[in-house]
Amino acid sequence: MTNAELNARIRRLLGHLRAGTTDEVQTTAPFEPWEFTSPERAGLERDRIFGRVPSIVAHSSEIAQPNDFITLQMPRNRVIVVRQRDGSVKAFVNACRHRGSLLEESAAGRCRLFSCGYHRWSYDTDGTLRAITKDSTFGVVDRDSLGLVELPTEERHGFIWMVDAAGADIDVARWLGPEMDANLARLELARHVTFRAEGFDEPCNWKLMQDAFLDGYHIQYAHPNTAAKFVHTNVLAVDDFGRHFRFLTPRKSIDRWLVVAPDDVDLSPHVTETLFLGPNTSVLIQPDHVELLTFRPHPSDPGMCRMEMRIIAPTMAAMGVDEQVWTKRWNKNWKILLEVLHQEDFPLLRSAQLALSSADAGPLVLGRNEIANHLFRRELARMLA
Ligand code: FES
Ligand SMILES: [Fe+2]
Repeated sequence: MTNAELNARIRRLLGHLRAGTTDEVQTTAPFEPWEFTSPERAGLERDRIFGRVPSIVAHSSEIAQPNDFITLQMPRNRVIVVRQRDGSVKAFVNACRHRGSLLEESAAGRCRLFSCGYHRWSYDTDGTLRAITKDSTFGVVDRDSLGLVELPTEERHGFIWMVDAAGADIDVARWLGPEMDANLARLELARHVTFRAEGFDEPCNWKLMQDAFLDGYHIQYAHPNTAAKFVHTNVLAVDDFGRHFRFLTPRKSIDRWLVVAPDDVDLSPHVTETLFLGPNTSVLIQPDHVELLTFRPHPSDPGMCRMEMRIIAPTMAAMGVDEQVWTKRWNKNWKILLEVLHQEDFPLLRSAQLALSSADAGPLVLGRNEIANHLFRRELARMLA
């Protein structure tokens, strides 16, 4: 994006602030509580969304060296993601091909082979079956067909992406489309590292959580003493790319330019940009780092999800600081984020999920001003169709 482009978008925000308006969609939209509670709907989402399109599972720096691995629960599969000796990345279903035991229990580590705790079969980090114990008594099997089941994965823009279905295709650039691909490229996140990644298993539907991070309408009501001190409520400027979108939110520091904003003033420090990467990721772009939020459905319970939060920051070398300074700096950001999440958003969302499970809670309605939530719903509907 050129400066002129960004400038024009910020001026659109200023116009909204002056007029008390926001980007909107044409009409309100009714919706039903069962979308957040139905096991059938949740099954469709796992298969037709996460089983078909790429989503981010980690930053590349989290498995930087050959044989580094992480494990995670995707909506359809338990997964091992492992850096190969040639520097590429592979992902496998975390299940032994003998009798299906969980192959790797640790959340992260480095190993030369994966070895099953049950009868000690072992697999190379490229997924090949290396050894069958008591081989001479086991009988003849086709070892080539008993490697770990591979899942499609790709590295792009410093992230590891995955489609959660064996045999599916993956093409991240195509999925992102030219606009969002360029937006991510501009951030140069492959040069950054994960300062910290943490997961939260929360008793609410994943869409409820993702919705909360696309919502500029709740800020002054749900976060009066935190976010609302710095960010305006109910003012978004959205660019819809189809599948993905981005939006600017004005910070309150922009107020000094409300009456007159001369052309040569750089207004970019007074806005926050969010990229929404379908189906389940928000990238909050801060002046000096990026916060990555992902939301994944539970493998069976529509009322549960896992949110992962990451701070992706420049390296110590790039910042020219030592480890202590670096850690202190990002820890401060991390704590602020965590506090708002745990004390303000999570309690609201947990109780929303409880309320939505009332048999007669609906129908409900989304306002014209809740534009980012509309776009999220539109894209989900498209994938589910
Ligand atoms: S289940 Fe893994 S070796 Fe038997
Ligand atoms: Fe919030």
